[in-house]
Amino acid sequence: MPQLKTTAISSLHLHGGGGGGGCDGVLPSTPGKFKMDKTPFHHHYNHNNRLLLRYPLPKFVVLSLFLVVGLFLFFHFSPVSPSYSSSAARIDRRSLRTASWGGAAWEKRVRSSARIRQSSRSGRRGISVLVTGAAGFVGSHVAGALKRRGDGVLGLDNFNDYYEPSLKRARQLQLENAGVFVVEGDINDGALLRKLFDVVPFTHVMHLAAQAGVRYAMRNPSSYVHSNVAGLVSVLEAAKSAAPQPAVVWASSSSVYGLNSKVPFSESDRTDRPASLYAATKKAGEEIAHVYNHIYGLSITGLRFFTVYGPWGRPDMAYFFFTKDILRGKSISIFEGPDHATVARDFTFIDDIVDGCIAALDTAGKSTGTGGKKRGPAQLRVFNLGNTSPVPVSELVRILEKLLKKKAVKKIVKMPRNGDVPFTHANVSLAQRELGYRPATDLQTGLKRFVKWYLEYYSPGVKKIGSI
Ligand SMILES: NC(=O)c1ccc[n+]([C@@H]2O[C@H](COP(=O)([O-])OP(=O)(O)OC[C@H]3O[C@@H](n4cnc5c(N)ncnc54)[C@H](O)[C@@H]3O)[C@@H](O)[C@H]2O)c1
Repeated sequence: MPQLKTTAISSLHLHGGGGGGGCDGVLPSTPGKFKMDKTPFHHHYNHNNRLLLRYPLPKFVVLSLFLVVGLFLFFHFSPVSPSYSSSAARIDRRSLRTASWGGAAWEKRVRSSARIRQSSRSGRRGISVLVTGAAGFVGSHVAGALKRRGDGVLGLDNFNDYYEPSLKRARQLQLENAGVFVVEGDINDGALLRKLFDVVPFTHVMHLAAQAGVRYAMRNPSSYVHSNVAGLVSVLEAAKSAAPQPAVVWASSSSVYGLNSKVPFSESDRTDRPASLYAATKKAGEEIAHVYNHIYGLSITGLRFFTVYGPWGRPDMAYFFFTKDILRGKSISIFEGPDHATVARDFTFIDDIVDGCIAALDTAGKSTGTGGKKRGPAQLRVFNLGNTSPVPVSELVRILEKLLKKKAVKKIVKMPRNGDVPFTHANVSLAQRELGYRPATDLQTGLKRFVKWYLEYYSPGVKKIGSI
């Protein structure tokens, strides 16, 4: 089975080694300079190195000792020290995990999961979809909904530990009970993707695997490049080389609107001022999509989701950890913008997002290329999928307090400059027109369903129940 390698680790070590310097000082002050002073016997040519000549051996030994201690301190305390490297490597490796795959039994499971069950009632021809990020929040809901209506669905996820992997495993179990096989692997594993396209002629790819979260990008930037940039390219490479080429629908993000202050956000608004690395990788993804559409004739639809919430949600999101902290009596930090401005989000319920994703798949034009060759122009679309009614975070907390029957311990703090934006508001008229997208769930109703799921899922001693 092919294994992925990480280059990030070795590049950290390279930087940590220090650059080569000149040899213009008596005492070597950097590792680079030390390397230049090969042996004491070379130094009789250098006037500045007289000291080394006078007591060649003992002096050299003493200097070497200093250097060894110096090097140890340098590597231990510098930002690229081995201790830092190993923790970065640990973080990196979480997204490089690829489980074993292949073999006749495995291929049989893949085929069976991706097989279209003809839906006779509607007369609609089913589709066969590769859903990446299927063990994730949105991916598990979309995969389940597609399967329920008779489509063929195969999941792919690397089960990384950005947040509790047990929640991803529980979603996987739900999907397996519904007949969806989730292959454990990384979207950067090109050989695995080629194999999947060899085994199944997917009509569509629903690409949802990504490194999500805005703040985490300051701690582990390379995971965003790995999954959202390199990973997207890897998926598009596999799609463009497949015969037939599938149509691709993928998740961009409302974060591409960045520092824009004009509201509501429309697809034609500028997106060149991202406020976080996460947003920048999503914006890069939209440009990369343009390239694969232009060169290879891939039909590609990007969906800009606005703060998705609901049952089986993501523990790193505010509505989720507020619920947890309110129940534990722990204080929650509520951000306020500059000049005490209210922070508000266009919270969008998961069922509305699922409807939007499925409508995007159903209306996607066919890719025009085959086996890497373009045969004509193909569809390239971008849609906002939001709720169109931003709600202040203070209101989110008020609803949660009511549903949980418990007061929150609130701390109002200035919004730190870590990538969050103060306000999001979607204009969804384009999605309404082209996809028939009509968000139908208000925050109160959606949170009620989330809280019900949360209390069931986390109640001690209760078997993990509920269905996606
Ligand atoms: N939830 C939101 O509010 C929101 C908003 C805007 C955009 N999005 C986008 O929607 C998509 C789904 O988000 P989500 O909320 O379900 O996040 P999620 O983290 O729950 O799901 C993403 C899944 O992708 C998997 N994954 C990550 N990197 C991978 C890789 N290299 N190979 C294979 N699998 C990998 C993860 O294990 C995870 O299960 C993402 O692209 C996200 O950026 C989400």
